[in-house]
Amino acid sequence: MGALRSLFLAGSQSRWLREQATRRGFVRRAVARFMPGERLDDALAAATVLAPHGIPAVLTRLGENVDQDAEADEVREHYEGALDRIADLRPLAPGCEISVKLTQLGLDLDRERCFARLLALVERAHQRGIFLWIDMEQSPYLDATLDLCRRARAARPGVGVCVQAYLRRTPADLEALLPTGTGVRLVKGAYMEAPEVAWPRKQDVDRAYFELARALLADAARQAGVRAVFGTHDTRLIDAIRAHARERGLPAEACEFHLLFGIQRQVQERLAREGARVRVLISYGAYWFPWYMRRLAERPANVLFVFRSLFRR
Ligand code: FDA
Repeated sequence: MGALRSLFLAGSQSRWLREQATRRGFVRRAVARFMPGERLDDALAAATVLAPHGIPAVLTRLGENVDQDAEADEVREHYEGALDRIADLRPLAPGCEISVKLTQLGLDLDRERCFARLLALVERAHQRGIFLWIDMEQSPYLDATLDLCRRARAARPGVGVCVQAYLRRTPADLEALLPTGTGVRLVKGAYMEAPEVAWPRKQDVDRAYFELARALLADAARQAGVRAVFGTHDTRLIDAIRAHARERGLPAEACEFHLLFGIQRQVQERLAREGARVRVLISYGAYWFPWYMRRLAERPANVLFVFRSLFRR
């Protein structure tokens, strides 16, 4: 299992594999299970389908590690337009948000230019009344990501950041983040990390996740105005977090669950029916290969879908 995960995560970095896979129709058909399409319009259409179920969306355009400023500028322009479209679509799909990756906004090229692009998006999101999430990427980007998030929040508060339970340093990071009242989306973590940096065993990651969840729901965090979001499909953890919130007498809106489009659909709908806050992260865009490999790494059984797609027309 661990070996397969490493294999897929290593594959996610391979340019050759990316070029091969993106040309194959059967791979594209398998990917369709996790994304409604490559265009913003596809993602917006999916958001309007989820909305009547009481499930707002978070939209993200796939892409990372851009190596040209012009590309990063194009990403900023794209998201500015997307924020306008999301605002226009509010009657049909209320509550939509966006999530961005800083390496897609040029973090590898220059931190300050990346920040300028982030700030432009934060400003537009503020004008449109839309919350903006910052994804967390590999651990070498962590300090820069937290720093830029902090600076963006100093300009406009409607910004949150993802933190990864698999990292050994996350309890300390969270302790520093919580008093600032920022939105926090807690996930397990999707990248290949060294054992000195991240817990290698799933049971340790799950245990860390629950401990961090408790910290996110503690009185101090709530008093600071933290928006506690749990980005997971792990129903055991979701149930445990909800039970913990109930035991503490917290209102339903104290915790919010974010799941990926196409994964655990029944759980998404059940949570919404039961009055829990739930959102679905919809990815779109042409640059889906590394992202898709990370989804395979999370659940190697997904490879079966790739093979099944080989025989579908
Ligand atoms: P786990 O992997 O234990 O899965 C629990 C169960 O969920 C599985 O048994 C299976 O049933 C189902 N499941 C999980 N993944 C599946 C898949 N790919 N296909 C089918 N079923 C699956 N990571 C990161 O490093 N930075 C980030 O910014 C984000 N952002 C983010 C946002 C949101 C909304 C989500 C849901 C996830 C992320 N992630 C992320 C990814 C995250 O780190 C993690 O890799 C995945 O969520 C898988 O872990 P689970 O918590 O779902 O648990």
